[in-house]
Amino acid sequence: MTDTLKVAVVGGGTMGNGIAQTFAMNGHLVSLADVSQEGLERALANIRTSLDRFVSKEKMTADQAAGVADRIQPVCNDLASAVEGVDIAVEAVFEKEKVKKEVFSVLGESAPAEAILATNTSSISITTIASAVAGPERVVGMHFMNPVPIMKLVELVRGERTSDASVDRTRAIAEGLGKTVGVAEDYAGFVSNRILMPMLNEAAFALHEGVASREDIDIIMKLGMNHPMGPLTLADFVGLDVIVDILDYMLQQTGDPKFRACPMLRRMVQAGKLGRKSGEGFYSYESK
Ligand code: 3HC
Repeated sequence: MTDTLKVAVVGGGTMGNGIAQTFAMNGHLVSLADVSQEGLERALANIRTSLDRFVSKEKMTADQAAGVADRIQPVCNDLASAVEGVDIAVEAVFEKEKVKKEVFSVLGESAPAEAILATNTSSISITTIASAVAGPERVVGMHFMNPVPIMKLVELVRGERTSDASVDRTRAIAEGLGKTVGVAEDYAGFVSNRILMPMLNEAAFALHEGVASREDIDIIMKLGMNHPMGPLTLADFVGLDVIVDILDYMLQQTGDPKFRACPMLRRMVQAGKLGRKSGEGFYSYESK
């Protein structure tokens, strides 16, 4: 394990709570910042559920799990104090450029000048986000995959002004978490979502056009390509709203019609069918 780091994770949603848990599981001290107390409570509950899974699989003792939970300090509505003295801040708020820039302007002012300022954005330009910060050379994309404690990859994204030192430091931190790093340049969707999103979207189009049932689309891709989940199951897992947001951003950035979101996907989001988190997407889920 590397030295103990002081870490701030900004945003307690699915990705934020998984990132906070992963740092804490590796001995680091985490401030988990969110604007809502309810959001923080939900995040801590999700972390406890995930830790319980590790305990029940005997990958961790109950004492170790309690230690992990103790290393995560929730901070409500006080981003400036959450990032005081940190070695790294990882932002994982909504996938909206304006919101991310607002967060980064606070990070730029309140975090130490030598801290790494990472964003877990899944598609938005690192260079644009970094433009909100004095010292853009310390801004880097640190794209974790869901479920963060389990998935091996961190996609590291280098913005136009990101320094080599920041890339090297972020790589060392990610590897210290037991992750493997793949580096991408700063183009919309990077590598992961540039390739994944058209696949998930195409699965939705295949259903929309009646090419096959949802079960058949999933089983063909799961067993035929040896993927862990079929694409419609994976879409529900990622969140249909997240997928539409990423596709819209990629269409806007590239002008390439291959990123046009399937109308059925958009209509489902408009109806509140967001996938697993809302209890309904391509499939229904008893517990969210
Ligand atoms: N916390 C703790 N443990 C967990 C967990 C969690 N959140 N989720 C899964 N696990 C554990 C299980 O307990 C199980 O442990 P075991 O090996 O000791 O039995 C192991 O992980 C496997 O889980 P399951 O048996 O429940 O089910 P699966 O074998 O299907 O694995 C999965 C679940 C790891 C989610 C697997 O289905 C998978 O890899 N799916 C694809 C995930 C993927 O593609 N993620 C990337 C999404 S894209 C993204 O995040 C980018 C963004 O920008 C959109």
